[in-house]
Amino acid sequence: MPHNDDVPLPRFPETLPRPSADYVHLSSGGTSVLVDISGTPTIVHWGAALEDDADLLRSICVTSRPQRVSGGLDVTPRLGLLATGAEGWLGTPLLEGHRGAGGSSLVLRLVRIRREGSSASFELHDDERAVTATVELAVSDSGLVRQRATLRNDGDAPFELTSLLLGLPTPWDASELLDTTGHHLRERHPQRRDFTIGTHLRESRRGRPGADASVLLAAGRPGFGFETGLVHGIHVAWSGNHRVLAERTNGGESFLAGGELLLPGEVILSPGAAYESPWILGSWGDGLTELSARFHDEWRARPQHPTRPRPVTLNTWEAVYFDHSLDKLTALADIAAEVGVERFVLDDGWFMHRRDDTAGLGDWEVDPSVWPNGLHPLVNHVTALGMEFGLWVEPEMINPDSDLAREHPDWILRGRDTLPPVARQQQVLDLANPDAYRHIASRLHALLDEYPIAYLKWDHNRDLVDAGSGSGGAARVREQTLAVYRLLDELKRDHPGLEIENCASGGSRVDLGILDRTDRVWTSDSLDPLERLPNQRYTGLVVPPEMMGMHLTTPTVHSSRRTVTLELSAAVALFGHFGIEWDLTTTDAATRERIAAWIRLIKRIRPLIATGHPVHTDLADPALDARGIVADDASAALFVITQITSSAAYPPARVRLPGLSPDTRYRLRLLPAPGDSGQSELEWAQADIVLTGTALATVGVRPPTLVPQQAAVIEAIRV
Ligand code: DGJ
Repeated sequence: MPHNDDVPLPRFPETLPRPSADYVHLSSGGTSVLVDISGTPTIVHWGAALEDDADLLRSICVTSRPQRVSGGLDVTPRLGLLATGAEGWLGTPLLEGHRGAGGSSLVLRLVRIRREGSSASFELHDDERAVTATVELAVSDSGLVRQRATLRNDGDAPFELTSLLLGLPTPWDASELLDTTGHHLRERHPQRRDFTIGTHLRESRRGRPGADASVLLAAGRPGFGFETGLVHGIHVAWSGNHRVLAERTNGGESFLAGGELLLPGEVILSPGAAYESPWILGSWGDGLTELSARFHDEWRARPQHPTRPRPVTLNTWEAVYFDHSLDKLTALADIAAEVGVERFVLDDGWFMHRRDDTAGLGDWEVDPSVWPNGLHPLVNHVTALGMEFGLWVEPEMINPDSDLAREHPDWILRGRDTLPPVARQQQVLDLANPDAYRHIASRLHALLDEYPIAYLKWDHNRDLVDAGSGSGGAARVREQTLAVYRLLDELKRDHPGLEIENCASGGSRVDLGILDRTDRVWTSDSLDPLERLPNQRYTGLVVPPEMMGMHLTTPTVHSSRRTVTLELSAAVALFGHFGIEWDLTTTDAATRERIAAWIRLIKRIRPLIATGHPVHTDLADPALDARGIVADDASAALFVITQITSSAAYPPARVRLPGLSPDTRYRLRLLPAPGDSGQSELEWAQADIVLTGTALATVGVRPPTLVPQQAAVIEAIRV
């Protein structure tokens, strides 16, 4: 046997033709998207940045092209930018529609590309069907990919669009899927499955994403976690019905796609009219931490992003529910100010006929039977204490038992003569009706003009079921969603500085469409810290921490009846927009001092939370949770370790604290629970300990021995 080095290498003939390829390469923030435009424009790569070398990029296009196989079409189909059945694509079509009774065949050919920096728009046209589509594709500085499309009817008869999705390819060996699901009080919990041939489809038909929505659909290498494992994911930035899917074909294509879910007859384009899809956002990373950091960077770079320190908030809902009394609320405000609260929010129950949840939605005037002098006495009291005032509203809803419904029964969304099934005794107001819209907008403007309201807690407590309008009951979810966006934009424009919280039975409307025009989201009505751990972790896949409302609970959680310590509740609420949901008038002085101490800590660390990146340790121990926020420049980090139940190990084994700069040294400090002077027996907690980022991430530290439902806070500061 000759030595390996001696084996003659086969020689390639010099005369082979060099195949050609035209391409568009968009690259920014460490991400590349490569589109082969030689035929039907097709994304051949989405992920790590590619070298911007024409020969290499052409070669990638060419080597990505499939071969013809037996039993198939002569040109093996690939997922084009707007793949349709008529062009030979046999997976889920990205574009579907028809003109009149027939004419559903669509074949769009590329007619023009406009390129600017790392963005491009592809104009595609179908002559025979007389439609023009424009697909916008951009890679932003954060490395996030944005994709959206417009479809215009160039014909002289109506064209019904039935589906428009946008897709991004995933590596074939990304064979594990992650998405989220849940229900009220348990939103955005993860579920995983094998990404086998076929389609994994998640739809929302609720007129809002819903508690069960997948905030991110991700495909990654088997076992990918937060810290490692190549993973790609998409999010549909839309607050109405949506569809998101992962598909793997027997032809070697695997991709993620998403878009708006269109109801029958919802988008019928008259001649010259156009439909614009929501943005589909795609991110990738070596682990979910890197993937989500791109979303956070992107969101934080927007000019409207809330950047002033997030005011510590007290929300009155669980403190008083509908039992509004000026004396009680002013007493609550006094204690709130004493412990350091900066924003006092009056929840549901202040307006006409709203003595419980059966009536009044739509009657947006202060109820004089409860508030004889309007809200002024409370608002004046709150602002005199140096706090901002916030007010709860639910503008998209109407109770049949309201003056508004009695005066304008035709303003209720319904697909037929009878009303849709009730939910919380309420129906949905038809905001696409210009009269209804103006009425609600003027009521909100009037409130914002009369009172110094810094913040609206904007609720939305029912799914849009059979949401139609007009005499034929035409489906109205899309129009309703656009009207809500218009209303939010109008209020923001006319009341500069106004902040709006996006709440929907807790976290039933968590999407970056609404979070582009609001300042935070109430991630769940569950204030149970243990339930909140997964909820906050997975909401944080796309939502930056400072946009997630996290509140201290009443010691016995109202929704779960679990009794928890103040320390657990506060530690779990640390990495977000901090608040309180608790009747503080029932607390003693010592408890208030402990709350105040946590609030002092919050105020110290909130710049870190507003600019840093969340990290999560992939732990083998299901009884523990370890997460942190690492400063953008890796100069510091804060970690919270939560003992959920008892661990197999006692004392617990070392926990790795990832995300810091590898060779940098950090001084480690176990923070005593604010308000508690007790010292841990843990040896390193008594010493001056310095570790490198590498040691923290790979070796880890012994956490303090915690009892179940106890948390510890560790600070790492660069030395
Ligand atoms: C549902 C919200 O999620 C709660 O926080 C509270 O505002 C109630 N609605 C009020 O009706």
